[in-house]
This record gives sequence, C-alpha cells and structure tokens, in this order.
Amino acid sequence: MIQSLFNARAFRLGLAAAGSLSLLGAVTTVTQAQNRNQVVNVYSGRHYNTDKELYAQFTRQTGIRVNLIEGKDDEMIERLRREGANSPADVLVTVDAARLIRAQEMNLFRPINSAALKRDVPANLRDPGGHWFALTRRARPVMVNPAQVNPNLIRTYGDLSRKELRGKLCMRDRSSVYSQSLTADVLQRAGKATTERWLTGMVANVKQPFFTSDTTMVRAVGQGECGAAVANTYYLARLLNSDNATDKANARKVKVVWVNPTHVNVTGGGVTRSSGNPEGARKLLEFLSSPTAGEGYAGANNEYPVKGWGNNPTLRSFGTFTATPVTIKQLGQRNREAVQLMQQAGWK
Ligand SMILES: [Fe+2]
Repeated sequence: MIQSLFNARAFRLGLAAAGSLSLLGAVTTVTQAQNRNQVVNVYSGRHYNTDKELYAQFTRQTGIRVNLIEGKDDEMIERLRREGANSPADVLVTVDAARLIRAQEMNLFRPINSAALKRDVPANLRDPGGHWFALTRRARPVMVNPAQVNPNLIRTYGDLSRKELRGKLCMRDRSSVYSQSLTADVLQRAGKATTERWLTGMVANVKQPFFTSDTTMVRAVGQGECGAAVANTYYLARLLNSDNATDKANARKVKVVWVNPTHVNVTGGGVTRSSGNPEGARKLLEFLSSPTAGEGYAGANNEYPVKGWGNNPTLRSFGTFTATPVTIKQLGQRNREAVQLMQQAGWK
C-alpha cells in the first residue's frame, strides 16, 4: 500500500515534473517564435542612411523590426556561406547579377512564392524560381565629354571599338563586376565571335590604366582626361549634387549617351535558406519592391526603381533609355565566359 502510494506519488511527481518541463519548453518556444516574428535580420551590401528610414517605415507598418548587418557584398555572401544553417540572416541584399547567381548556386537562398513580388518585379529582373528579386535598377550608359568625343559617334556599345575613340576611352578594370556584367550582356546578345571582335577593338581604344573607381572615371570625363567612359548614372548624379563646386562644375560637362540597348544591372535580395522568419523576410522584400518604398530604396543612391523612371530630378534630366533584353539570370550565367573573353582580349 505504502509502496504503491509512494510509487503513485513518484509517478505523479514525475508527471508534474514532465509537465512543467514541457510547459517550460513550450513557453521558450513561443517566446522565441514571437521574437523571430518581430525581427528580420538583413545582411546588406548597401550602406545608405535613407535605407534605415525605409526599414523604420516597414517596422511601423508591420511591427517587424529590421536588424541591419552591413558589410561589403562579397564578405556578406561569404559570411552567410560560412554560417550555413546556423546563420541568423533572414534576407541577403547584394549588388550585381553575378553575385545574386553565385549566392543562389551556393544554395544560400530559399524560393519564395509571392504574388506581390511577381506583380511588382518584372520577370526579367527576378529569378524564375523565386530565389532572388531585383529591388533597384542601375543603368550603365556611355558618358562623353563632347569637347573630346562627338556623342553622335556612339549609338551602341559596339561603337566603343570605333577607331575615332583611340586613346580616349576610359573603362573600369576587369575585376569590376560592372565591367563583367556589361560584357556578359554583350555576349548574350551578340554571341562569342562578335564579342571577341568588339573586345579587341575596344581594349585597343582604352586609355590605360583601367580605372578602379567609377567616381574617379566620371570625374576624368568631366575634366577632359577621358573622352568617353562607361559608368553607372548614379555616380554622375552624385557628382552633380555634390557640395564640392569643382566636382559639380566638371560633372556638368559630362553628357549621358543612351546607347540602345543600355546595360542594366540591379540591387537585389532574397530570403536566406537559414531564415528563422521567412514570412517576415518575404514581407520585407515585398515592401522594398513596392512602388512607393521601391522608389525610396532606389532614390537612396540615385538608382532607378524596378518599374518606371521614378521622380528623381537628376535622373529625369538624363532622359530615359531602352533597357537591354538580357535578363539578370542570363547576366549571371554568362559571367564566367565573359571574364575569360575579357582576359583573352587584354582587358586588365
Ligand atoms: Fe557602385
């Protein structure tokens, strides 16, 4: 009797202990879930104060806080890869087609099915499988100093190999993802043989050394040290809006030549494979690609929204362009071959 009582009591104690343990477990899980639902950890290659304003706006709308971890694009990708399934990241934001494709090939993104993202991001600017989505567009036209080079000579990137540009053309170096994606664009449209001829002619025109910064290169066009260059418009926009009077005056001498079609690259993002809060992460991407927030995200760096031209007066002053038909996915897929051809042609 006593024995059975004891056993029964022990049994009840055991049950109680098990109950409180599982209750504790449940409480912990619920708390974690609540926290996870309220925070989205973003690994970002961008560092603009206006981005933080947008994230704050997202928090006001949804209650989801954004924890921003900034770094250089390649470092963020490498960190995500190293952390693997244990990474706290929910969203990766990075610049350039090839980086998005590389992150996808490293299996860092999970596919997202979102009607809003499909509606707001044109099909050529997102992964068909939903792994990543463009959030801004960055156009890379030719920029000319008309005192050095007649802008009418240049209608396509192909014209950069014209002999009139000998010694007057300035380009970014081969390691620049911008140069690589530009070449991948031409390669996708024109094929290997034409691209090889184009590269040979163009590289022969380049005023060496190749530049390691678009800002310095656009300044050099304004100063007349370069007759023409290929650069992202936001660098020119930045100089035009600079507090530095010399930069501003030089930038005014630069003419944007919209070659047809114009190469377009992107800032893009995706939900990470490791995300503990993929729902919150998806909501953030939907917010950032929405027409209103998307313009803010683009505007932070004088980039173009994924749809339309936006209301940035400096970009408006450049006019509009016909964007390349080449998709961001194709740019990424062609990257390796493009770099090989650049190397063979002597692009330093
Ligand atoms: Fe840039």
